Amino acid sequence: MTERSFLGKSIVSIRDLDKEDLDLILQEAEKMEKIIHSGKKPLDGKIMAALFLEPSTRTRLSFEAAMHRLGGYVITVSDPKSSSAAKGESLSDTIRTVENYSDIIVIRHPMEGSARLAAEFSSVPIINGGSGSEEHPTQALLDLYTLKKELKNIKGKRIAIVGDLKYGRTVHSLAYSLSKYKDVIIDFVSPPSLKIREEIKSDLTDAGIEFHEVESLSEVIARVDSIYMTRIQKERFAQESEYEKVKDAFVLTKKLLENTKGSIPVLHPLPRVNEISYDVDETNHAVYFKQIFNGVLVRMALLNMILGGKI
Ligand code: CP
Repeated sequence: MTERSFLGKSIVSIRDLDKEDLDLILQEAEKMEKIIHSGKKPLDGKIMAALFLEPSTRTRLSFEAAMHRLGGYVITVSDPKSSSAAKGESLSDTIRTVENYSDIIVIRHPMEGSARLAAEFSSVPIINGGSGSEEHPTQALLDLYTLKKELKNIKGKRIAIVGDLKYGRTVHSLAYSLSKYKDVIIDFVSPPSLKIREEIKSDLTDAGIEFHEVESLSEVIARVDSIYMTRIQKERFAQESEYEKVKDAFVLTKKLLENTKGSIPVLHPLPRVNEISYDVDETNHAVYFKQIFNGVLVRMALLNMILGGKI
């Protein structure tokens, strides 16, 4: 597998990437901090369209920052109400339009399968910036990058993934990506109504990954090497009353972290609501703000590889 194999490719699902692809992206991301300070413009003249038809702070701004850092240009839809999607335009027509303005499109859309559909219609590469409850592959890549930085090695590590495992797209992409690291063990911690999807469990089983499902973080906190907290996805619930029942299911506190086997890293894709108390921010466990910067590096690497920037 060479760097050139990403040239012109779309990133729709983490499942489309093998272990060598993941390693290559993480290696390229390592080089990007230097690029930021070098003044080089490997993507000078290239245009990225950020088509965000669902709210975002980190994904959109980090992709935009990444493109600027590489010397490229950005055009943006940041509010679905300000695009013609609000007038009933189909996603395929939107893509057939935006491809005329840009060399690559990053899309966030509330519908599962939206990024795959966009890639089918687009003549330029598509990057999935979050497709409904389904997947968020670039988040998984920055999560892997952060885990690798913090734990030195992902192989053989035990990771607790906590919160909304049913609707949390970052969880789905992370679980698939961890399954490429053979000796990883995953503890899925959720309320019964928000358990990890059956198809993901089936894929993990096929990949030979050991995983456990529990309902209490204190059951696993002493044995894991890292904790990945997630928000309960209020916007995905059909009934607000169902959300109310689970919204405070897990709150990670500084006190609870006294039970870990050391200064284990706590990750979170963010935004957080109340699932990590603010007193955790002052501890060595808190790496969720480092994740944000890592996201710029990983997205720089992806854009550069797909658009063929010379560094
Ligand atoms: N992690 C993440 O996807 O954050 P945003 O929703 O702010 O983009």
